Amino acid sequence: MIRLNNVVASYKTERGTVNAVDGVNLEIPDGCILGIAGESGCGKSTLMKVIYGDIGFPLSLASGSVDYGFTDDQGNKVTSKNIQKQWFKRISYVPQSSMSSLNPVIRIRKQFLDFESSSKTKAQTLQEVKSYVKKLGLPEESIESFPHQLSGGMRQRIMIAMATFFQPEIILADEPTTALDVVVQKSILLLLMELQEQMGNTIILVSHDMGVHYQATHKMLIMYAAKAVEYADSPDLFTRPLHPYTRMLINSLPTIGDDRAREGIPGRPPSLWNKLEGCRFADRCPLATERCRTEEPAFIEHRPGHFAACHYADSQANLSEVV
Ligand SMILES: Nc1ncnc2c1ncn2[C@@H]1O[C@H](COP(=O)(O)OP(=O)(O)O)[C@@H](O)[C@H]1O
Ligand SMILES: [Mg+2]
Repeated sequence: MIRLNNVVASYKTERGTVNAVDGVNLEIPDGCILGIAGESGCGKSTLMKVIYGDIGFPLSLASGSVDYGFTDDQGNKVTSKNIQKQWFKRISYVPQSSMSSLNPVIRIRKQFLDFESSSKTKAQTLQEVKSYVKKLGLPEESIESFPHQLSGGMRQRIMIAMATFFQPEIILADEPTTALDVVVQKSILLLLMELQEQMGNTIILVSHDMGVHYQATHKMLIMYAAKAVEYADSPDLFTRPLHPYTRMLINSLPTIGDDRAREGIPGRPPSLWNKLEGCRFADRCPLATERCRTEEPAFIEHRPGHFAACHYADSQANLSEVV
C-alpha cells in the first residue's frame, strides 16, 4: 500500500510560491493500475514527481509525506526521503513519449547496462536484456540502436522495457502514449497492462484521455486545481461518479456509434495564484450554491472506497440529468 499523507508540493518562482498539489490524501492498494485524470495544469505530473521522489528546485515537498509500504535492505521504512535509492529497482518511471527521455547519443544497450549495479557480469545482463526486449516484441538488435533510429512506438517500448526489467513494485507512467498514433497507443497500453498482470505490481498511469482510463485502470483519481476531487474503483467511478467534474469528464467521452462532436467542459480551472475559497470547481459547476463558493468541501468517503470532495455528492445519483 502506498500512502500519501496530506501532500502539499510547491514550486518556487519569481512571482512567489505556488502549490501545485495541495493537500492530497490517498491510499493506493498494492497490485492495481491507478489512473490519474484531470485537465492540464491540475497537478498530475507534480504528484507523480512527488511519488517518484524526484523533488528538487523549484519543486519542494512543503508538507506531508509518502509511505511506500516496504523497507529497504537495511530494514528502514522507505519514504519520500529515501525512495531515490530504489529508482529502477523498486520504483520506475515511464515518461511522456518523446526523444528527450532517452539519451540521444548513447546506444540503448549501454543505457540499460548503466542501471545494473549488482554482481552480475555485463555479459550476463546483456543476455537477459536481449531476451527481455525480445519478449516485449522488439528485435534484439534494437538495443544496439541509437534512440533516433527507432520509431516513437519502439522507443516507448524500450522505455517500458527499462522501467520493468528489474520488476519494480511501483511503475509510474506519465502520459506514456501521448503523441503516438492510436494503434501504437493501444499496443503500448496493452503491453503495460500485460506486464502489470504478470508482475502484480502497482502502476500509476497519468492520462488526460478518459477512454484510456476506462480501458486500463482498476482505480481512478480525479484531480482539479491541485486537489484530489474523486477517488474510487474504476467501474464505480465510471458508472456512478459523485463529483460533477468527474461526470462532465465522462460525458466528454465519445460513445460507440455516436459521431457527434463532444463538447469540452466550458470555462477554465482557476489560477492557482489566486486566493482560492470554497470549492475550486464552483465557477464551472451547474450545481454550485452559495455554500460551494465559501466552504471548501472535504474529501470524504461517501460509499465504501469511494471518496469525493463535493457538498452534494450524496445527492448526485438523483442529479444525473442536470450535469
Ligand atoms: N517547473 C515549474 N515551475 C513553476 N511552476 C510549475 C512548474 N511545473 C509545473 N508548474 C505549475 O504547477 C501546476 C501543475 O502542473 P503539472 O503538475 O505539470 O500539471 P499537469 O501534469 O496536470 O498538467 C501548473 O499550474 C503549472 O504551471
Ligand atoms: Mg503533466
